[in-house]
Amino acid sequence: MKRAIILGSGLDILSGESPIESIPYTEIPGWPLGKVKGHKGVLDKYKNIWVLRGRAHFYEGFTWEQACFPTQYLVNQGIEELILTNAAGGIDPNYEIGDLMQITGYLNFMKPDKSRKLSRILQKPTIFNTELIDNPQNKNAALGVPEQNLSIRLHQGIYVGVHGPNYETHSEIALFKSMGASAVGMSTIPEIETAVKNNVKVTAISIITNVYGKTVDLGHEGVVQAAKNASEKLARLLCLS
Ligand code: HPA
Repeated sequence: MKRAIILGSGLDILSGESPIESIPYTEIPGWPLGKVKGHKGVLDKYKNIWVLRGRAHFYEGFTWEQACFPTQYLVNQGIEELILTNAAGGIDPNYEIGDLMQITGYLNFMKPDKSRKLSRILQKPTIFNTELIDNPQNKNAALGVPEQNLSIRLHQGIYVGVHGPNYETHSEIALFKSMGASAVGMSTIPEIETAVKNNVKVTAISIITNVYGKTVDLGHEGVVQAAKNASEKLARLLCLS
């Protein structure tokens, strides 16, 4: 099974290991070049997994198709399983900074442009690979999670994707909470939709970098730092350390 992982802001895994090949996004024709700090902008190919270090965001002015491009590229390269990660704000008051949340559903508030094509496949109630949650005793055949990693607290919840780049108002958070969302972020949805439409198995995990009602000074630096701090835990969960 050819696998890839897309790393969100500040996330850093397998960086101590030498990739077989390292391709800067600038060398891949058509790749949307994001400018957000904390993103390295390189595709590192390791023996068991390809790692995309950073992504372009819809709010940077890219079209929906551009935001989908990296995932479509992976699909065209034969990737069959995709792990998506992102930094997200915790809406659920029980969440703490550094917690991990497996995405089991999403709300799309990204105001996509006209080129976003809908697909019947996305109407299915379950589009995510939730083996990490469903089958912890079974050591997760797909991701190979060994038993000792079960001590990592893994929430499950609904991710709401917003356009950004601003963080949310108090009232927006109250609204999202009333809709059942547990975390909010500015990415991942183009990737989910592209992967699902192409029958790629998707596991999506949010790293909770701030929690509404708890984080006092919310800013990009704090978000990146919190994601960096949680990287090791994420790598352990996914057996990528
Ligand atoms: N809101 C939106 N995106 C985010 C947040 C947030 O609170 N934290 C990290 N990415």
